[in-house]
Amino acid sequence: MRVLIIGGSGRTGQLVIDVLLQRNHSVTALVRDPSKMSTKTGLQTVAGTPTKQEDMRAVFSTSRPEVVIVTLSAPRATDSPFAAVVSPPRLMADSVANVVTITKEFQNPKIVIMQAFGVAESWANMGCVMQLLMKKSNVIYQYNDHNLVTEETKKSGENYVFVRPNRLVEGDALKVKEWANDGKGVPMLGTISRGSVAKFLVDAAESSTWDRTAPVITN
Ligand SMILES: NC(=O)c1ccc[n+]([C@@H]2O[C@H](COP(=O)([O-])OP(=O)(O)OC[C@H]3O[C@@H](n4cnc5c(N)ncnc54)[C@H](OP(=O)(O)O)[C@@H]3O)[C@@H](O)[C@H]2O)c1
Repeated sequence: MRVLIIGGSGRTGQLVIDVLLQRNHSVTALVRDPSKMSTKTGLQTVAGTPTKQEDMRAVFSTSRPEVVIVTLSAPRATDSPFAAVVSPPRLMADSVANVVTITKEFQNPKIVIMQAFGVAESWANMGCVMQLLMKKSNVIYQYNDHNLVTEETKKSGENYVFVRPNRLVEGDALKVKEWANDGKGVPMLGTISRGSVAKFLVDAAESSTWDRTAPVITN
């Protein structure tokens, strides 16, 4: 498969690239700074910014993706939930809106997007302690951006999978437990390794099993 990854320089994005290459897919990564990326057989790195429509069109023209995987994050100054927001408010929404617009000019590839437990219909089952933490910290800005992506992508009619991991921990791929789109029953302190998320994103890219769904995943 020809796969375009947006956010491939990130912690999860790099693991996704490795899984894709292990499975012999042809991978193109659109990244702001290609010098951050290691050279790998089967990986083409293209310099560009996902919020710029002309950069998105250029990378689609050269790579002709059958699937697009998005592992962007709207960053804060540090990983602390209270750290200052250093991202434009619609970083992910504008980037995915560009994917959707350009997708319609090409072969309508499927879009697989990494989100988080608590986004959209899974908010109600997060538990009030976590909801309060989100609302009182700067994590809410990231959730607002993910919520816009959800709403706008669904409205576009494109084929999508929203993958919603619970709290991320570093580690290799382990057995994944899948929950319904609303995340009912997900344990508050549940975690998932980045390796597991990377593998699940690639599984969702390869198979139609999760098309137009938003599974919440934990280990
Ligand atoms: N932390 C958790 O417990 C948790 C739990 C569930 C889900 N998630 C979700 O996981 C997702 C990915 O997280 P991660 O930790 O893998 O991300 P990460 O390592 O912080 O990587 C973020 C990616 O976004 C890109 N990016 C950031 N700002 C950008 C901008 N202004 N323009 C263009 N690209 C930009 C980065 O590119 P550069 O390298 O160019 O900066 C990088 O490729 C997030 O959406 C998050 O909501 C997190």
